[in-house]
Formats: sequence, C-alpha cells, structure tokens
Amino acid sequence: MYLYGIIKTITTMGHIELFEKERALGYNCFVDTWIPNYYFFLEKLPQLLQNKVSNKHLLAVGCGTGNEIDQFCNDQSWHVTGIDPSPEMIQQAIERFGKRPNVHLIHGAIEHFEPLSPFGAATLLLVLHFMKDDGSKLQLLSAISKKLELNAPLILLDITGKDESFKDNLNLLSLLLPESLPEAEVAQRLQRIERALYPVSEERLVQLLHEAGFGQPCRFFQTTIYMGWIAYRR
Ligand SMILES: C[S@@+](CC[C@H](N)C(=O)[O-])C[C@H]1O[C@@H](n2cnc3c(N)ncnc32)[C@H](O)[C@@H]1O
Repeated sequence: MYLYGIIKTITTMGHIELFEKERALGYNCFVDTWIPNYYFFLEKLPQLLQNKVSNKHLLAVGCGTGNEIDQFCNDQSWHVTGIDPSPEMIQQAIERFGKRPNVHLIHGAIEHFEPLSPFGAATLLLVLHFMKDDGSKLQLLSAISKKLELNAPLILLDITGKDESFKDNLNLLSLLLPESLPEAEVAQRLQRIERALYPVSEERLVQLLHEAGFGQPCRFFQTTIYMGWIAYRR
C-alpha cells in the first residue's frame, strides 16, 4: 500500500489564488475557450511520461477540477494524488474521481502537504502565473521538488513571457479565440492577463526551476502565451 501523508493546517500561506463560485463552475469551459490546444496538451501527458517514470505515483499540484487526473486515472498502473486549496475546485475533482481506487484527493496547499514517500512525477498546470515573483513562485516550486524522488519529471504549463514578445503572443491569442465570444469579455480577459497575473520570462522561469532543485527544463509545447515544460528533479 502507498502511504499518502498528512496535510498541515494552512496558517502561514502567502497569496493563494482561490477559484470560487462561477469561476470554479465555469472553469473547464473557460480553459477550453482560452487555451488553444489545452486538451491536446493534456491528452499527451501519459504518453510523454510513459518511458520516463518507474515510480508511477503522480502528484498533481493545483489539480483544480482534475483535468490532468482524468488523463491518468483509467490506467490502473498510475496512482494520482491531486491537491488544491480551493474548496470549490477540489470538490469538482472529488465528484469526478473521488471513487477511483487509484486517485487520492487532498484539500490544501502543496506547501503544507507532507507525503510519507516521494512521488515519481508531478504536474503543475496553470498555477504558477497566479503567484508573484517575490519568493512565492520559488516557494511553490521548492515545495514540489522536495516531494519528488531523484530524476522525477515535473510537467509545467504556464503563461510565460515578457515585454514585446509577450504582447505579440497575446495579440495572436486574441485572433485564435472563437468569434462568438463577446468583445467586452475578450477585452476584459486580455486586460486581466496583462495586469493581474504574474508571468515571468523564460530565462527567469529556468532560473527559478534551477533554484528549486530541478535541472535544465525543456520547452516542448507552446500555444501563444501558454508554454509547456519538462524538468527533472536533481
Ligand atoms: C487555473 S487552476 C488550474 C487547474 C488545473 N491544473 C488545470 O490545468 O485545469 C489553478 C489552481 O491552482 C490552485 N492553487 C493555487 N495555489 C496553490 C498551492 N499553493 N498549492 C496547490 N494548489 C494551488 C488553485 O486553487 C486553482 O484551483
């Protein structure tokens, strides 16, 4: 039997972006609309990891409604632990996967989770850009790194980029959106991406991963402002 571990009370967390009410309920539709090829990216995750992992215990950090869990849970050789501090997001994951014997769901932040055994792989999809680069991003990445065994892969999907190239990609994203989306909604969301999220440049992301205990990441996926990476625990 695999022992999962305990979650400590959330007392010392810095900023956590909680997804509540309509935002949580409409989440899956939202990502499909706003992230071109999001489901292609997700569907390829098991294929990507199949020859890179011997310990098939996956830690899905910030699993939200469980979209990444959905890709692994039908294969009984995988055991997935999903963790998320947002009650309304993890509740949806519980409703979808709570009865699966190979899925374990935890309400809490990764920084407060103390597993009894290290994981063989982890995902961190669409989480890091909600955190400021004031130590919070590094804290999150370090917390994940500490829970992985040596050489375990981390798959990362995040809004990435700075300055002109970021603006160019954001403009391109606006061209790829469904034409049926109301103009005001598009304008509001694009403004939010520019002003309320905290993407960093690729260079900074690489630096943060190194500082957190990962080797050189490889970018294998990009759809405008969204980039996917694989990095291994050193
Ligand atoms: C945009 S959702 C991503 C959900 C899912 N990974 C996906 O790709 O559909 C971001 C999630 O990160 C969670 N989150 C934020 N801070 C976290 C932390 N410290 N530990 C674990 N999850 C966190 C939020 O509660 C939210 O549900």
